[in-house]
Amino acid sequence: MGTILITGASTGIGKATAKYFAEKGWNVVATMRSPEKETELHNLQRVMVLELDVEKKETIREAVAQGIDRFGKIDVLLNNAGYCVGGVFEAATEAQINRQFGVNVFGLMNVTQAILPHFRANKAGTIINISSVGGRITFPLLSLYHSTKWAVEGLSESLYYELAALNIKVKLVEPGNIDTDFTGRSLDYAYDEALTDYKEYNDSFLLKVEENFKDPAKVSKPEVVAEVVFEAANDNKTRLRYTAGQDAEFLLHMRKEKSDEEFMGFIAQQF
Ligand SMILES: NC(=O)c1ccc[n+]([C@@H]2O[C@H](COP(=O)([O-])OP(=O)(O)OC[C@H]3O[C@@H](n4cnc5c(N)ncnc54)[C@H](OP(=O)(O)O)[C@@H]3O)[C@@H](O)[C@H]2O)c1
Repeated sequence: MGTILITGASTGIGKATAKYFAEKGWNVVATMRSPEKETELHNLQRVMVLELDVEKKETIREAVAQGIDRFGKIDVLLNNAGYCVGGVFEAATEAQINRQFGVNVFGLMNVTQAILPHFRANKAGTIINISSVGGRITFPLLSLYHSTKWAVEGLSESLYYELAALNIKVKLVEPGNIDTDFTGRSLDYAYDEALTDYKEYNDSFLLKVEENFKDPAKVSKPEVVAEVVFEAANDNKTRLRYTAGQDAEFLLHMRKEKSDEEFMGFIAQQF
């Protein structure tokens, strides 16, 4: 048992993980952009709800300091906050592109840099980054989101070596489709009616995504990710990657077995 600091704990995977760790007896620093809106986590024992916007460094500094002050130390950082721009790359606005990288990449880097002095001083710590099956493979019309998750994979794999000698572990959790409101509340769709060349492909893609999220065999509950994060935090292994969800396991297994051409042909066929 120990203390975990979670970003994006207001909902979805972040909230499910906060509750899971608290139930298992961990202290939880559950951070979010708008803690005043939170109604449930405040009431749990061992859970401290704090403001943290991954794009605002002063909120990160303050939350890390308050978490350490309350619980003595932080053992695990869970970089979970995320946002997704889907749709036609050509139609994406500068603001969408900036926010996509601002939250998923630069925000994750901000929080990681803020916790590292503490982990170095303790000569211990674990950084768990929520990537995605989409950090290892791609689907059409998600180019910006994939770019950020592939960036998180590269950053994490390189940091894994760099921090090992300091006894700081880096881990990646790669979920498949998870039953949260990510594709509702956190999805920003880039589309321009004037770009009619994309219309047919775009419409069939949206239908396919809707179909996938309705198929229980292709979607897991956020608690499945919470369990995998818990395993990653506690197994004391030097393992880098953890998969969450049967759909993710299937796709990553296939990616390993097939050639680029075979695998990409399979994905292309789906849409
Ligand atoms: N759902 C899936 O199918 C799926 C699959 C693979 C990976 N993932 C990854 O899982 C993570 C969590 O997503 P989810 O499915 O749980 O979706 P979600 O319920 O929409 O949660 C997204 C969280 O990110 C937070 N967030 C957004 N911008 C932020 C910022 N600037 N600072 C701090 N927090 C911010 C949101 O906070 P607010 O409440 O303030 O908006 C929310 O708590 C993401 O990294 C996502 O890429 C999800």
